[in-house]
Parts: sequence; C-alpha cells; structure tokens
Amino acid sequence: MSAPVGDIGLIGLAVMGQNLILNMNDKGFTVVAYNRTTSKVDDFLANEAKGTKVQGAHSIQELCAKLKRPRKIILLVKAGPAVDSFIQQLEPYLEAGDIVIDGGNSHYPDSIRRTKELEAKGLLFVGSGVSGGEEGARHGPSLMPGGSNAAWPAIKEIFQKTAAQVNGEPCCDWVGETGSGHYVKMVHNGIEYGDMQLIAEAYDILKRGLGINESEIADIFTTWNKGVLDSFLIEITANILKFNDDDGVPLVTKILDKAGQKGTGKWTAIAALDAGTAVTLIGEAVFARCLSAIKDERVRASKVINGPQRDAFRGDKQQFIDDLEQALYASKIISYTQGFMLMRETAKELNWNLNYAGIARMWRGGCIIKSVFLGDITSAYEKNKDLESLLFDDFFNKAVHKAQPGWRRVIAQACLWGIPTPAFSTALAFFDGYRSEVVPANLLQAQRDYFGAHTFRVVPGKENSRLPKGADIHINWTGRGGNVSASSYSA
Ligand SMILES: *[C@@H]1O[C@H](CO)[C@@H](O)[C@H](O)[C@H]1NC(C)=O
Ligand SMILES: *[C@@H]1O[C@H](CO)[C@@H](O)[C@H](O)[C@H]1NC(C)=O
Ligand SMILES: *[C@@H]1O[C@H](CO)[C@@H](O)[C@H](O)[C@H]1NC(C)=O
Repeated sequence: MSAPVGDIGLIGLAVMGQNLILNMNDKGFTVVAYNRTTSKVDDFLANEAKGTKVQGAHSIQELCAKLKRPRKIILLVKAGPAVDSFIQQLEPYLEAGDIVIDGGNSHYPDSIRRTKELEAKGLLFVGSGVSGGEEGARHGPSLMPGGSNAAWPAIKEIFQKTAAQVNGEPCCDWVGETGSGHYVKMVHNGIEYGDMQLIAEAYDILKRGLGINESEIADIFTTWNKGVLDSFLIEITANILKFNDDDGVPLVTKILDKAGQKGTGKWTAIAALDAGTAVTLIGEAVFARCLSAIKDERVRASKVINGPQRDAFRGDKQQFIDDLEQALYASKIISYTQGFMLMRETAKELNWNLNYAGIARMWRGGCIIKSVFLGDITSAYEKNKDLESLLFDDFFNKAVHKAQPGWRRVIAQACLWGIPTPAFSTALAFFDGYRSEVVPANLLQAQRDYFGAHTFRVVPGKENSRLPKGADIHINWTGRGGNVSASSYSA
C-alpha cells in the first residue's frame, strides 16, 4: 500500500459529515471518508465530492491505513452506543498518540468517560461541539473541542481553518479538559433556548399587547438588528415574520404553537440543578416549551379561566418598543451571566481550566447564537479572565443600569395585560436577587430549624450568649418538648 495521504478521517456521511468533509477539503486538507454502508462512500465520491481531494475508505482498516500519524478521526454518528461501537472498531488499527474526535451531540459525561478510557490505552480523545447546522458545517461552523490536552496541537490547524472566522479570528479554540467541549456545546444550546424564548416573548407582547401585526413586528426586529441586539436569531426572526403564505397571510400564524425539543436545553437545566447554580432563564425556556406542548389542555383552560381585560395601549408606543428592546437586551445579559456562572461552577468542580474569552469568541460566529454581543463578552473576559460575573464588567454593568427602567416597565405592563413573560420575569427576579445584600433566606433557615432542627448561623455582629459566633445553632422555638433532629425531616 502507498504512503498514507489523509490529514484527517471522518466516519458518518449524513449531511453534517458530508458538509464538514467538503469544508475541510476547501481549506486544503485531504479527508478520508468512511460510512458503514460503503455504497454511501462511493455515492459521495461520485457526486458531492467529485473533483475534490477527498479519499474514500471501505473499511475501518483501510480508513486507518490511509491516515498520516498521529491519526485524527472524526466521528459524526448518532450520539450514544454508536460512538462507543466505532471507537471499539477503530482501536485495533490505532497506535499510541492517535486521536479520536467525537463531533456528535454527545452528553458530556460520556466524553469525560471516553477521554479516560482512551487515555488509559495511550490514545487521545477529543469531544467537540459542532454548531451551525448543515450550513455551518459546509462554510464554517463554531467548533468547541475539549478532551485530551495533548491532542490540541495536532488538530489545531485543521480545526481553526475549518471553523467560521470573525474579523480574521477563528470561532474555534481549545475549550479545556475531558468533557468540557461537549459541556460548553450543551450550555451553548441552553443559551440558544433562552435567546429564542426571549424573542418569542417580545413577539407576543408586540402582537397581543400592542396589537400590531407581523409585518410591523418584522420591521421592529429589523431595526433592533442594527443595534445592541444585532444577531443571527433576531435577523431570522424578522425574515420569518415577513414570510407570507400564498394567500398573503404571515405563514408563522399558521404554525401550531407546540414547541419540540431535542433535550440539550433540558440537559443544561439539569446540569444547573446538579451544580446548584441559578440558571433560571434557561430553565424557564425549557418549561415554556413544556407548557406549549400541552396545547389541548391549554385550549380547555382558556375556556374556563379568565385573565384581565386587555385594554388598548394608551401610552407612547415608540417608547414602549424601545423599552422592550432594552428588556430583551437586559434579559439576554442575565441569561449569559447565568450560563457563564454555570460553566465556572462546573469548571471548579471538575478541575477544568476553561478559557471564557475563548468560549465567547467561539460563539461569535458559525453558530445559532452568533451575535455582536458575544464580542462584548469576549472583551469582558479578555480584560479580566477571573471576572466574577458579567454584571461586574463595566460595559455590562452600565448596560443593565441603562436598561433597567424600561425592563421593569415592560414586565409590569405584561403582567397587567396577562401576557406571560417567564424568561423576561425570571431574568429580572434573578437580577434583583443578585444585587440584594439581604435576601429572605434568614426566614427559610428559621423555618428549617423550627420543623427540622436543621440549625442556622448568626449574622456577624449579632452574636450573644444564646447566639454564639460560628456555631451551628438550634433554638427551642416552641418551648414544647420533642427531640426533633435534623435527620427526621429534610427540607
Ligand atoms: C452513513 O450514511 C448515512 C447517510 O447517508 C447516515 O444516515 C448514517 O448515519 C451514516 N452512518 C455511519 C455509521 O457511517
Ligand atoms: C399591518 O399593519 C400596518 C399598519 O397598521 C398596515 O399598514 C398593514 O396593512 C397591516 N398588514 C396586514 C397584512 O394586515
Ligand atoms: C424545649 O423547651 C421546653 C420548655 O422549656 C422543654 O420542656 C423541652 O425539653 C425543650 N426541648 C428541647 C428539645 O430542648
């Protein structure tokens, strides 16, 4: 057999795989393509990949034989057992230092496990988030690789050239250890849920609150897309709202209001609960989809439960629209603040060294949440990589202060109208909690001690002989008997 020519191999010739191969080929790399159904390989070479440098392989052995050392093989197969199965099939043909890259939608605990398993065998593993859909894969995705640190120098050039570029910078950098690439991709998807929900709430307020139609709302989004909200999702929202069916009616109004989900938003919310981090906006975005899904029950409820009378808006419409823009912006700042808090907490727990400026930079282009805003987050973490939260950054601190009055007016008005704003409202509630020196958790602690003897600590400066400093104190609240102990109840 001749000397290996392949820079990288790719397994899984569905649309994402094909597009990524063609993209890497355009960037000057020789890709070796493999699919379990080998006729797919021939089809691909004879059609989409015709006239390119792409090589085909008809067996795993041939794939590995065609690759230069250290071998780099991307798996773009269904997340789950298929990934483990291909890793197993590859192993006999791999040598120390070879790199297996999982570019699928794997859950990060699997990537943590696979990194350990492969490293124990002298191989390297990379779990890479790939975002941007088919279009991104073909012309420049956002790539979020993490895993065996030693793999990065070997894949860096291919990954950074293949990724989307913003102002000459690639939307790809090394995320960190073990499962961090897939973790960051998961948080990205959660944030995407949040951004979409915020936009949907703004649309609802404009439509049912202000009573304006889709074409006017499209114009508002088009205007917003020139300001602080400039982003892919705002842009496509304007396009969607302008899109009419053949009868001239906005097509969006004919779409059943039951949202689906594939689970990455839910994973983020679960990860947040596990980490004990208040990622409330993504949580509300997931729950809003759940509520949307029970359409039939909502229809029945709408017949028997009345909201407030919704009078025509009598205030200054343009002022209200400007307020709404600020409400959307401020809520978005909170959502990203929460997302980065979650990553920080997890990094601490799992001993990952995450590069937050790099993560924001990776999301600036190529993916669904791409926006100008992410450039500002990049700058915030470039200025201070240990930033406690985005709200401590000067730029974002000023932005939320400026947005605050309009943000409050919008939520207050939506409440009076009876229009649900779970994402806007939870963002504001988080904001008000986060900036509160004192929250009512003192009462929670008292309740927990009253019924469950869970004990509490005393406020520094308020100590006395009954309330000693630094001790776990239990008070006999009722003066009645009972030997209630913390183990009898838990709350
Ligand atoms: C093979 O290609 C088909 C599409 O052509 C794709 O659906 C499938 O996931 C690929 N599978 C593997 C394991 O290569
Ligand atoms: C939407 O509202 C604007 C302003 O009131 C009006 O000019 C336009 O005809 C309306 N479009 C539709 C499709 O009703
Ligand atoms: C609580 O106080 C009452 C009245 O002083 C006393 O009888 C009881 O034993 C105390 N209970 C505990 C658990 O200390």
